[in-house]
Amino acid sequence: MANQSGQSERKLGTVALRWHGHSLELLDQRLLPTEEHWITAEGATAVAQCIRDMVVRGAPAIGISAAYGVALAARHAGGGDWKAEILQAIRVLAESRPTAVNLFWALQRMERVFHECHSLEEATKRLAAEAEHIHEEDVDANLAMADHALELINPESAISVLTHCNTGALATGGYGTALGVIRRLHERGRLKEVFADETRPWLQGSRLTAWELSRDGIPVTLNADGAAAAILARGEVSWIVVGADRITANGDVANKIGTYNLAVLARHHKVGFMVVAPSSTIDMSLSSGKDIPIEERNGNEVREIRGIPLAPDGVKVFNPVFDVTPASLIDAIVTEKGVVKNPNITGMQALFG
Ligand code: MRU
Repeated sequence: MANQSGQSERKLGTVALRWHGHSLELLDQRLLPTEEHWITAEGATAVAQCIRDMVVRGAPAIGISAAYGVALAARHAGGGDWKAEILQAIRVLAESRPTAVNLFWALQRMERVFHECHSLEEATKRLAAEAEHIHEEDVDANLAMADHALELINPESAISVLTHCNTGALATGGYGTALGVIRRLHERGRLKEVFADETRPWLQGSRLTAWELSRDGIPVTLNADGAAAAILARGEVSWIVVGADRITANGDVANKIGTYNLAVLARHHKVGFMVVAPSSTIDMSLSSGKDIPIEERNGNEVREIRGIPLAPDGVKVFNPVFDVTPASLIDAIVTEKGVVKNPNITGMQALFG
């Protein structure tokens, strides 16, 4: 099911998840932009492995994939204690990556449905339906967020924006969060240029965002992460638009490493800084960004690229793949439920309880 909301493929962008009822196909994002190769995951363990290895990545897409993983676990359960098998699959999926709360949000939702089921047959049907709902709702949220963001930006003429990482159709159920806003600006004829940070070390910006935007005819200029300050100094960029992996009750935002740098730069250059994320990314159980578990990945992601050394063999590396931007540096958090301007605990509670 590549197209959950009946939206045309063109409008939603290149969607990286295809649900077939008995298996989940994932576009292998490790191989882009040079190769378009789909991997078939037939069970929860395979889905967890794909999330861990970043075959599929991006907070919402991770949550959706995990939900389909639970649906697959139900389909394959039944050798012995089907309830224990499904709960074990949920545990395996929960251990795949730590930072994006969408993963745990989706698994909790699946587990609630699981506990309501009285037979394996019922669980198989209802868990598949719930995963499909999670997928559909994500696409709808992306479209709604683009509407809210456009109202907020309200551009009288075409503007340029800068973005970080990949937040597009590849990272979501389709359309995108921050890239959804960029798509909408383009659809309305209000986009001059997107500057895309290459996003070291995994290069989501150059390998995925530049690919996704070029494919959809959206004007993109790729820049090294270190060029962002120079670009803002030229005064051409009106907004920095990014996604999020987890937003806490006070409005702090965990997102791809390098996001915090951009927020500091935006404040210095008086450029708007907008975070676009569905409510599945909000974690009101954590009071501040200090409590967010930040994933650190293998140092080889920094030391080498596709096996080619970029640094002295064995050099010590620090590779946190997310950072936390304090709420005080954020002008607006845009969700499908509405916008929190100058986020703080009061604004967050008003919208998310
Ligand atoms: O490590 P990744 O590629 O999963 O990190 C992705 C990001 O940080 C995105 O900005 C975030 O998940 C929002 S995606 C709509």
